[in-house]
Order: sequence, then structure tokens, then C-alpha cells
Amino acid sequence: MRQDSLFSDVPPPSKIRQADENRLAALKNQIRHHDYLYYVKDRPEISDGEYDRLFRELLELELKYPDLVTSDSPTQRVGAPPLDELGKVPHERPMLSLDSLMDPVEVLAFDQRMKRELEAEQIDYTVEPKFDGLSVELVYDHGTFVRGATRGDGTIGEDVTINLRTIRALPLQLQTDRYPEHLVLRGEVYMRLSDFHALNRRMTERGDDAFANPRNAAAGSLRQLDSRMTASRPLVVTCYEVMAMSGPLPSTHWDELERLAEWGLPVPMLRRRCDTIDQVLAFHRETQEQRDNLPYEIDGVVVKINRVDWQSRLGMKSRSPRWAIAFKFPPRKEITEIQDIAISVGRTGTLTPLALLKPVEVGGVTISRATLHNADEVARKDIRVGDTVRVERAGDVIPAIAERIPISGQIRPEPFLMPQHCPICESAVAREGAYYYCTGQAVCPAQLKGAIEHFASKMAFNIDGLGKKTVAQLIDQGLVKDLSDLYRLNQEQLLKLEGFAERSSTLLLEAIARSKTVPLERFLMGLGIRQVGQHIAKVLAREFGSLDAIMAADRDRFQAIREIGPEISESLVSYFQEQSNRRVIDQLKQLGVSIMEQRSPQSHGPLLLSGKSFVFTGGLASCSREEAKVLVEQLGAMVSSSVSKKTTYVVTGSEAGAKLEQARKLGVQILDEEEFRKLIDASEQR
Ligand code: IVH
Repeated sequence: MRQDSLFSDVPPPSKIRQADENRLAALKNQIRHHDYLYYVKDRPEISDGEYDRLFRELLELELKYPDLVTSDSPTQRVGAPPLDELGKVPHERPMLSLDSLMDPVEVLAFDQRMKRELEAEQIDYTVEPKFDGLSVELVYDHGTFVRGATRGDGTIGEDVTINLRTIRALPLQLQTDRYPEHLVLRGEVYMRLSDFHALNRRMTERGDDAFANPRNAAAGSLRQLDSRMTASRPLVVTCYEVMAMSGPLPSTHWDELERLAEWGLPVPMLRRRCDTIDQVLAFHRETQEQRDNLPYEIDGVVVKINRVDWQSRLGMKSRSPRWAIAFKFPPRKEITEIQDIAISVGRTGTLTPLALLKPVEVGGVTISRATLHNADEVARKDIRVGDTVRVERAGDVIPAIAERIPISGQIRPEPFLMPQHCPICESAVAREGAYYYCTGQAVCPAQLKGAIEHFASKMAFNIDGLGKKTVAQLIDQGLVKDLSDLYRLNQEQLLKLEGFAERSSTLLLEAIARSKTVPLERFLMGLGIRQVGQHIAKVLAREFGSLDAIMAADRDRFQAIREIGPEISESLVSYFQEQSNRRVIDQLKQLGVSIMEQRSPQSHGPLLLSGKSFVFTGGLASCSREEAKVLVEQLGAMVSSSVSKKTTYVVTGSEAGAKLEQARKLGVQILDEEEFRKLIDASEQR
């Protein structure tokens, strides 16, 4: 090969930079587009893995060219170092509130009044959901998001610009180029119910207090001094009002929303234009029926006069506009009485105080019990038997006691105290922070029942047909004394149980047999380790790849994982130290339970490189760096750009650089291209 042809393909550095710059710009646009499809349109077009790859590529390019990092880059949505306090900002226009109505008759009267004042025979309205989050002001200058604030007192709010920037549904730059020079919007920041539940699960797994409802979770997440914290919270935003805009204004509210949507802003999807007030009432009715099926919380609909000139003519009262109303749904809060406080014992032995209530209807559902969470909560709210309380039901969230309503002159019993013995098995009760738990473990039928139900659940061993009733019978008859006993059951035993015949017992035994092959994360879930929920189980499986590695790990090793704090690692270590737990795990294995190493969401085979991490240095002859990355990621490995002690392999191509030195220094295994190929081929074939 001639010398010059070897080098003629290598572009000069300025050309490389130009190519990288182009790629970087293209990546930013692609990611913005996919953020828009995912968060605003709710219609993603690529997989999460694909998205992550684009994102990582952009990150790497930005790392290489720090001068090309712009504030509107998708990577800059990660938050910034914490502030001492949130600054105050005056709103450009007062942020008003809305008059609330609940009775359709009042809404008809509103329509009559408006017709009179406007001297109009017919008024058209735009109706939208009334989102239950927190209201924010959003300012765009020349199409760029420059400032955002909470409502505050309506005149001055808190500056939450950097926190809002982390919300992916919020465009940092408006689309198309026909946006106004200056635009001030109002919108609502909120949390979807599924994200709220997942967040609360993560919080409690970590030992943090859960949020009472999605609105508190959204407010708490947005009003953070540390915007990196906001970035980690699943917030969304919807824009529903133009507060100010330079240039010509659309003539109706409906058109305003359409315009916002064209600029890539999220607007209420459920909006409807109504020609008559009857259509408004119908929208309210239909939306209320849908309320429990919506992915987010709403507490009514907002009715707005559509014509902007009419809005201006009507103007405002002191705190609310005359041209819009909140047409609310019946409250999900109600007042009732505490008849008794009971204790329930969960699968991990935690004792939970439960308020037994005088039955009351809250938002269409009769409620007779509400969780009191833990002893601290009971003390904080000072709840005692006989108290009058306000109960609250938020979405599909289990009812909770919002507050006690003091009644003057009432004689109250002594404060509530947690029992010293388990109400089910009489074992001693121990205390851990705010939590009390029964020390009886497998001796406690409540714990054993809970443990078996949990073991059999979909998220764990997924044993079809092993419901609550069957579990109770198995335990009450002494057939199951620990998890492994499930795999010792035979037909003769099952036939003795109530409701079991030939066929049902065969089916159950088959389901039990099928459950013997289980992915690592579901195996971990099934064990019911305190503080280890689905998310942590997944993290552990991904991080360690095998049960043996997890059982061998110590506190420090667990704590080195980002998602795992001291309490979870303590819980893991003490679980695996306990002889009886190790014995059950051994027996499960002996009885034929086989644990599959972690799976990727796309593939159905075990991922042979899971838990491994790769660093590439130098060029590869057989494929591009990007292809190599995809290859190893598909097999479950991670790719990182710098070598550390955690790196499993450094793959060296031609002209390997400093990373090779670093790998040698740290004793990381080095693979040349041929060895790398062999590893990949071997992993793919298995
Ligand atoms: S319009 C001048 N539209 O409801 C009109 N408000 O007291 C400004 N809200 O604090 C509000 N969804 O946070 C409007 N589609 C919607 C809304 C909405 C929720 C909130 C807003 C305000 C409260 C009314």
C-alpha cells in the first residue's frame, strides 16, 4: 500500500471539527424532536435505547468541544449547582385566580350574565381540564425560554427558571420562525399519576417520606434549590394561557392554543370548543366520567370565553378574570370520624396504623378505612380515636387522613401508642426510625402470608392462580412454612384444600413448576427484602448480573451504586447474613429454581455482557466506534469514555492513546480488535 493513500483519508483537524460540529447540531435537533414527540405529542417514534444512544453521543461530543455547549442543548436539562434561596421576580402581568363553581345551575347563570353583559345571543367557549398542579409563568424572548416563575402572591413569584429548564416537555427554543419576539405564557407543572407512584416507591425504598399527592410532589420538585434534584423528578407542563404577546394576537383563545402548539409548546390535549353552554355541561360530565382513567389529576374543567376582544371587554375583578370560570368536580375530601385505630401487619412485618372510619362517600366512593402511615404521622397529626378528621382521596391513591379538625370542648382519649406485641403472632415489636415491626418473621402468619403472596406476584415469580385465599389456606394448614415449601407441594395436598379439584390443582402445580425459571431481578423481588422494590431489584440485577455476586457484596459495594443509600445496603447485607434466608435460597436452588441473568428489554436471551463496562481507544478496522458501541450495548454492557477501576475491558485499535496507558496502570484487561471480536462472537452465539 502506498504511503500517501494511508493518510489521504484522514481529514485535517479543522475538517474533523467541522464534521463534529455538524453532527452535534444534527444530534441536538434530533433529540429535541424526539423530546417533543415523547413529552408533548405523547407519540414516541424511537426506543428508549435509541434515544439514550443519541443522547450519549451528544454528551461525548460536547465533552470534546466544551465551547460548543449551548444553554439550549438537551444535555443542559440536568440542573445546576444548588442556590441558597429562590430569587423573587415580579410577573409581567398579574397571575389571577379563577372563580369556582360546582353546580351546573350556577354555570347556566354565568352564561346568562355573560350574554347580558356582552349583549350577545350566543357565546362560544373553549373548555379545558383544570390541571391539579402548580401554576407557572413562562417567558420566551425571540423564541428562547428565558424566565419562569411560580405564581407566588400573584404579583411576585419565585424564580424557578433553571428548574423549569430541566422539564423536557418544555421547549427551550420555539419551533418554526413565526413566533413573536416576546411571549409570556401561563401553564401548569404537574406529575403524571404513574410517575408519582413510582417516585413515591423510590422515596420510601430509600427511607424518605412519600409525597401526599401528585400536586405536592410537583410543587416540592419544582421549588428545589438544587435543580439537579428537579431534573431527576418526572415533571411535565401544559400551557393554557397567553398572558402577553408582541405583535398581532390571535382572535380567539382556541387559536392561541393552536398557535402555541405550532411552536412546539404542550397545550391541553382534551380541549374542546363549545358553541353552547349545554356543550360545556356535557364536556364537564364526560370529563368527570373519564377522571379516574386519566394519567394525571384534574379537579374540574376551566371554561373560557373564546373571543379575545370579548375577554378584554369583560376585563377582570380584583383577583380573577370575568371571562373564565373553574367548573369544579365534587371534592374528594370529606369530613368523618375515627371510630378506632387498628394495626395491620405487612409482609415485611411493618406495623401500619389504620384508621377505621365512620363510612363516608368521597368523590363517589365509600370509604371506611384510611392509612395512617406510621406512628410519627399519627403523632404529628395528633390523631386519636373519636377525632373528627378530613379524609382525602387523590386519583387512584388510597385514602389518607388530610388533617384533624379540632372540636372545642371535646374530651379526647390518651394519644395513640403503637403496641409492644404483634397483634397477629404476639412476637415482640421492634422499632426502626418511624417504623415498628414484628420480629416474628416466618413465625408470624401475617408476614408469611404477605411474603408468599409477594413471592407469587406478577412482579416476582408470577405464579398464576396462587391468590390470597389459597395462600391463607396453605399457611393455615401448615403446608407452607417458608418460600421453598411452595416447590414441595403435591397434588394430594392441594386436593385437600377448599375449592381445589383435579384440574385446578394440576394447573396450580404447573404454574408453580413454570415459575422455576426466573430472571434475576424478579428473583430478588420475590425474596421480599425490606426496602428492595422493583426498581432497586432491577438496579441490583443490572449492576451485579448474578445472585452470587450480590450475596458476596458488602455495604461499601452496595453503596457505591448511585440508587442505593445506607439503609438499603444495610437491609441487603443483613438479609443475606441471616442464616435462615441463605438456607431458603439454597433450598430454592436445590428444588430446581434457576435464576436467569439479567435480560434486556428487547432481547429474550440472557445478556452475556451485562454488568461489564467497555472503553474504546483508537480506531477499529472492522467497524466504526459507534457500531462497536451498539454491539456491546445490545449484549448488556455499558460504554464509557474514560478508564477507571470499574472498567472491565479497554479495547484498543490503531493509534490507541492515553486510555491504554491508564488501563495498564489500573490493571484493566486490554483487548485488541481480534480479541474483542472473539468475545463478541462468543457472546452473540450463546
Ligand atoms: S386559566 C386568568 N386554565 O387553576 C386565567 N387555569 O384558580 C388563568 N389551572 O391557579 C388561569 N388548569 O393554576 C387556567 N386550563 C387551565 C387551568 C388553570 C389549571 C389552575 C391555575 C390557577 C387555578 C385557578
